[in-house]
Amino acid sequence: MSDPQTPWWRSAAIYQIYIRSFADGTGTGVGDIRGMRSRLDYLRDLGVDAVWITPWYPSPMRDGGYDVSDYRDIAELFGTLAEAERFIADAHAHGLRVIIDIVPNHTSLRHEWFAAARAAGPGSPERDRYIFRPGRGPSGDSPPNNWNSVFGGPAWTRITERDGTPGEWYLHLFDSSQPDLNWNNEEVRAEFDDILRFWFGRGVDGIRIDVANGLVKAAGLPDLPTDADGSPLEPSEIADHPYLDRDGVHEIYRRWRKIADEFDHRPVFVAEAWVESLERLAAYVRPDELHTAFNFGYLRTPWSAPELRETIDATIAAMSAVGAPATWVLSNHDVERHVTRYGRAETAAGIGASRPDDPGPVDVELGLRRARAAALLMLALPGSAYVYQGEELGLPEVLDIPENMLQDPVWVRSGHTQRGRDGCRVPLPWLASGPSFGFGVGRAWLPQPADWGRLSVQVQRDDPRSTLALYREALRLRRELPALGNGAMTWLSQTDDDLLVFTREPEFMCVVNLGTAAVPLPDHWRMLLISNPLDEGLLPPDTATWLVV
Ligand code: NOJ
Repeated sequence: MSDPQTPWWRSAAIYQIYIRSFADGTGTGVGDIRGMRSRLDYLRDLGVDAVWITPWYPSPMRDGGYDVSDYRDIAELFGTLAEAERFIADAHAHGLRVIIDIVPNHTSLRHEWFAAARAAGPGSPERDRYIFRPGRGPSGDSPPNNWNSVFGGPAWTRITERDGTPGEWYLHLFDSSQPDLNWNNEEVRAEFDDILRFWFGRGVDGIRIDVANGLVKAAGLPDLPTDADGSPLEPSEIADHPYLDRDGVHEIYRRWRKIADEFDHRPVFVAEAWVESLERLAAYVRPDELHTAFNFGYLRTPWSAPELRETIDATIAAMSAVGAPATWVLSNHDVERHVTRYGRAETAAGIGASRPDDPGPVDVELGLRRARAAALLMLALPGSAYVYQGEELGLPEVLDIPENMLQDPVWVRSGHTQRGRDGCRVPLPWLASGPSFGFGVGRAWLPQPADWGRLSVQVQRDDPRSTLALYREALRLRRELPALGNGAMTWLSQTDDDLLVFTREPEFMCVVNLGTAAVPLPDHWRMLLISNPLDEGLLPPDTATWLVV
């Protein structure tokens, strides 16, 4: 619980709603606004402070809505603008703040600007809103440079001009249906200023910025340096990367911060920025820029006490150096669910196309045990934390979606070598039975495992040992205890211990056993919560507890 003077976002527990997979209120098989509204009581009772909703705009859904065709409206599949406004009001009435997602790096191919760019021809102001270039080679049939799409294949696609001749190429760091905008163009900047005001004016409390590190590209779009085989080097091997984390992005966010500060309810930003170091990340949350940024370094850290401790310390140091709160995240719609990750021999995450080819077998029971302990660790750390829908149910990654049902563009663009991210996007089970376990009245857009009824909200709600009960109790205590949320922590364990032990004032201690043997608990007055039962009075492996000391 934080002091009422502290802004809410410095200690918030934020629930990520992947809208297509949360709750289907209209029987389309896809989640929607009506479904979200019907579950607001669930979210209030879970005890989170805010929700972040992934893109809900009109979109051809080639990349799950991260391909936006109109930033000021709602996809028909999800509802209407009026319903979105009612949702924001209802969420507020439930004591929940609302964060929406904005996608400034690229639009959809179906955005009216892209149609205008195609029609207007080379050199036109319409084309200048995107990044069009002539191809290389005598007939221009090679891409303008050697950049690759994050989803696989070249980052360039050639268009046919209106007269039927092969034309210019456009840049797309993601799918070919997601053309990159040109952030050197003032019209692009002004358009997003207006989009921010449109949503802040409708009461949203925050905006998550998609690919916040990618907007600015180096002048001249130089080739990436290559290795001896001619393949582009990894971002970590490139000093002055031509499109990732360029200093020019900060000017944009300083401008955006001023816009947020125009509003009395002081909406906030959270950056999605996969960058090379915590110091680079901290630059995004300097006092005159964004408020928070996802801490992907934490999600990438293996289930190892020394490594977690190092990441926690480095995070807190880097964020406090710029006066920003730390954030913690274990799962989202782009990475393998942590129950599954923690059940593998290699427990650090791979994302999207960068997942290892053969990540090895999974011990789901072990993964869940660790995930429950990880939840207590994360929710006890200073700062704000993200809960990805379904993690409170202990859902694992779905690894066996039939190939012909995979929808992530990663699957096609990788030449069917990477299955992509559908396995963490499978619709939630609300009921023990039914065609989609209560997700909707009919089937869901991705198949759910046959045994998911046992993980449903209905089954877990009344079971005090369930993962849902653990999250509820942890979130309730997090709100109630003055020690939790914003503030400081003090380590009691040593840097090379297999235990993580820390205190927070007043009277709070968290102990996590990441070793292989059960250990005695430190002296304490009372146990508040434990992720798995004690074993003859000892704290077993892969277990966490919260104590009053
Ligand atoms: C990050 C989003 O989280 C991901 O789902 C999306 O595919 C890319 N950005 C491109 O917008």
